[in-house]
Amino acid sequence: MKLNQISIDTEYQGISDTTWQALFEKAISSGVLTKRHELFSGNEINVSEKRPALHTALRNISNSPVLVNGINIMPQIEAIWHSIERIDNQLRGVTDIIHIGIGGSDFGPKLVCDALLQKPHKENRNIRIHFLSNLDSAQLEPILKTVEAKSTRIIIVSKAFTTLETIQNATTVLDWLSNQGVLAQEIKNNIFAVTANPQQAITFGVSPENILPFWDWVGGRFSVWSAVGLSIALKFGFKVFQEFLAGAYAMDHHFKTAEPINNQPLKLALTTYHNQIRFGSKSQAIIPYAHRLQLFTEWLQQLEMESNGKTATLDNHSTTISAPVIFGTPGTNAQHSFFQMLHQGPEIIPVDFIAIREPMSDLPQAKIHHRMLIANCLAQSQALALGKPSNNSDNNLNEKYPGMRPSNLIWLPRLDAFNLGSLMALYEHRTFCLGVLYGLNSFDQPGVELGKVLAKPIDEALSNPSKLSLLNSFDDITKKRIEWFNSKT
Ligand code: F6P
Repeated sequence: MKLNQISIDTEYQGISDTTWQALFEKAISSGVLTKRHELFSGNEINVSEKRPALHTALRNISNSPVLVNGINIMPQIEAIWHSIERIDNQLRGVTDIIHIGIGGSDFGPKLVCDALLQKPHKENRNIRIHFLSNLDSAQLEPILKTVEAKSTRIIIVSKAFTTLETIQNATTVLDWLSNQGVLAQEIKNNIFAVTANPQQAITFGVSPENILPFWDWVGGRFSVWSAVGLSIALKFGFKVFQEFLAGAYAMDHHFKTAEPINNQPLKLALTTYHNQIRFGSKSQAIIPYAHRLQLFTEWLQQLEMESNGKTATLDNHSTTISAPVIFGTPGTNAQHSFFQMLHQGPEIIPVDFIAIREPMSDLPQAKIHHRMLIANCLAQSQALALGKPSNNSDNNLNEKYPGMRPSNLIWLPRLDAFNLGSLMALYEHRTFCLGVLYGLNSFDQPGVELGKVLAKPIDEALSNPSKLSLLNSFDDITKKRIEWFNSKT
């Protein structure tokens, strides 16, 4: 088995051995070790939805049995691997894929497809994957201007298969195919669905043989390892997808077996938790010094903030501490944007720097660029940690860098499918550990429901402007806004 190749350096956290010891004790008394066992064993740790959270089974390349209600789920997972491989072969020669999905059905596969575009996956196929998530048709229009209807295939990815954005986008794309002269039967052959609700996909019009199922024990934001990642296999080949799973498996193995003192996900979680406690930090910057990880923060925002941005603890008390605001953009662009605030703003904002040892382009100048890139990464963490006193005796505060601003450095030897899988699994487990430290359920998302429910009557009022009874049912502010939208200027 190939082992985890990532290393993490927490030295600029300024955490003493005694404090580390206290932090490990806090983690253990919060139940990290027991919960970790429950996570991997398929216990119902998503207590509100009465389900396990078994994304780790999706990358269990050892094939050791994983039981849900006494049934080994590995044969179902293997069957999906075969289906992905079959579809990968079947779709050779197709020029374009429109991958329709939102949230967890979009961020993960989009990140991986973008991150692996360059080195070292030269097997990168000549197939274009277009990710379509937003309800705003401005995202769809340029895609439809680029693709050729006959040589395009559609993958509709939705765990629930009722998600407004996805269903509307899929409906518009199917209308477009039909307007382009593609016959109904051909359309049926050319659409695929990845879902935990196959019946709904069939009702929508997808052929049963074109449906790749996944299961309610896979959380949407943890689903890239399932058939949700089909586009990754189509873009780079099934072998690369397997390597991606193997990287995550290596991190799972590390997380399961490493002692707390060497346990990377736990240590990352503890640094975040500790900074929230000691500095009252409310946010965290994630800065990959790797342009190809430009979508990493977007993926992590959902993972961390949808998982741990909660109001209640497991025993239904108000949370006093939960997810930090995650933000970030690749270095060095970030340096010329919000780094001023990281260095001198009043709030201490901890940073995770991510750096790759090998350059990620083949240009003759790549080595020079890469050396300078890494120099900047190291310099920024050094400046944050060590700071600099004011030059003059007048103690001009603007010249002073306070220092003592904590950061981690996460090193990857190279940005390939294996290490990317490990990196994403590292952060998944960090999120899990943080959830345990906060004492909450990281696997549900009750807070996303209300807005969806309220949008329905508003949509009805927007589409029936003359029905005053609809308008009058809203609060005054919403009413005024609906009137503004419906007014002709
Ligand atoms: O934002 C809420 C949410 O349920 C996410 O958890 C999920 O990733 C996203 O919507 C998309 O859901 P689905 O895959 O069911 O369409």
